[in-house]
Amino acid sequence: MTKDTITSARRKRDVSEMPADGRKTKVLFVCLGNICRSPTAEGVFRQLVKEAGLADRIEVDSAGTGDYHIGERPDPRACWAASRRGYDLTPLRARQVGRHDFYEFDYVLAMDEQNMRALKQLAPPEHAHKLKMFTDFCLSGDCGIPDPYAGGPQSFEDVLDLVEDSAQGLLRRLRSEVER
Ligand code: 4NP
Repeated sequence: MTKDTITSARRKRDVSEMPADGRKTKVLFVCLGNICRSPTAEGVFRQLVKEAGLADRIEVDSAGTGDYHIGERPDPRACWAASRRGYDLTPLRARQVGRHDFYEFDYVLAMDEQNMRALKQLAPPEHAHKLKMFTDFCLSGDCGIPDPYAGGPQSFEDVLDLVEDSAQGLLRRLRSEVER
């Protein structure tokens, strides 16, 4: 069965974004530079998935809408703040999101409205339903994770608070889908 046939079958049945064929559900977090917010989301969510025993069912990645930092490690301030809460971002390297990602991933989660606008321009229409705000899953009702790049240490703590909240909500959603 081709990828297009699978996608079309899923749409016809109006089921969720979860793969119906037993493969891993793939989640992509997207911010601007892929050195602060989205690698933080990747590190936090990967750890939650591992602790939930779902690492064989859910795959996690991150990317940036911009190309400024391709190949770079996450910002040291993001690594430091994350490490204090027990998350290791150091193996991650920045990359730019591409149109191809919409074919590969089941969820493409934007960190803020600016990234959402850029992703909407990029998304093939038949895959646009995969695009959501990451904070759609957060319990605190926030809409978007503010860019911490020009901020101080507290900005990175604020990012982590929102990321942890949204990641818990996302895990709850995906867990209910994989265990269905
Ligand atoms: P991020 O933060 O999108 O959370 O990775 C930023 C990183 C770099 C820049 C802007 C935001 N920059 O302008 O270089």
